[in-house]
Amino acid sequence: MKISIADSREQFDDTAARRIVDQICHRPDSVIGLSTGRTTGNIHRRVCEIHSSLDFDVSRVTFFGLDEVTGVDREYAGACYKMLLTEIIEGLGVKMENFLMLPTRSDDFDAACRDFVSAIDNRGGIDLLILGLGENGHLGFNQPGSPFNGTACTSLMDSRLEERIRRETATPDDVPLGGVTLGIRDIMHARRIILVANGDNKSDIVREMLCGPVTTDVPASILQLHPDCEFILDSKAASRIDVKQLRNC
Ligand code: GLP
Repeated sequence: MKISIADSREQFDDTAARRIVDQICHRPDSVIGLSTGRTTGNIHRRVCEIHSSLDFDVSRVTFFGLDEVTGVDREYAGACYKMLLTEIIEGLGVKMENFLMLPTRSDDFDAACRDFVSAIDNRGGIDLLILGLGENGHLGFNQPGSPFNGTACTSLMDSRLEERIRRETATPDDVPLGGVTLGIRDIMHARRIILVANGDNKSDIVREMLCGPVTTDVPASILQLHPDCEFILDSKAASRIDVKQLRNC
C-alpha cells in the first residue's frame, strides 16, 4: 500500500498539490477529478501558487468535480462548482469547456449522470482522481451501503452537511436537498487515485478504510483493491494505523 504521511498542514497540502502538478507536467492532456471540502481547498490553492511560479501548461487539462450538491444554485458558495471555480479553476485560468461538473439542478438527473460519465470517457477516462474521505467512510456522495458496482447517481447527503447547507441557503425543509456523484465503479475505473485525509476526526475511519474488511459499510475500503491508489495523510489522521506494516501490504 502506498501511504505518505505529512508532518504539517503545509507539507500535506504541498505533497498533494505536487502530485497534481506532476500529473499535468507528465501528461498535459490529463483528465483530473477533484473533490471539495475542508481537506482539499488549501491543496487547490497550493496548485495555483506552484502554477504562478512554474507556469506549466494547463490548456489541455480537463478538470472535473467528483460530486455536486443538488437543489441549490451552483453559484452558492457551498456548491462544488463554485468551490472548485474559486479554489483552482479561475486561478489556473482553465477554460470553461475543460471544466466538467454535474448539475446542481436538473429535470432528469439520470440523463445528466450518463452524459457526465460519457463526457469523461470521451476525453479518455480519468487519469488522476483526488478523493476526500467522509467521517463515515463516504467517497463523494456514496454513503455507506452504496453498491460497489454503482455508477453516477443522485444520493443522500449526511444530515450534518444537509443541515449546514439548508441554513446557509435558507432552504425550507420541504425543498429536497441531496447530492449527485460519480459511483464507486466510476471511481475504481480511474487509472490513478490519491485519497487525502487529515485531522484527528479522520483517524478512526482511516483505520477502518485501510485495516478493516472491504465492505459497502465503509465505501472507502474498496480502495484497498485499487491497483494504483496512494493515501496522503497527516500524522493525526494516521495516528491509529501501523504505517510500516501497511506499507508492506
Ligand atoms: C463531502 C464531499 C466529499 C468530500 C468529503 C470530505 O461530503 N461530498 O466529496 O470528500 O465531504 O470533506 P472534508 O474534507 O470537509 O472532511
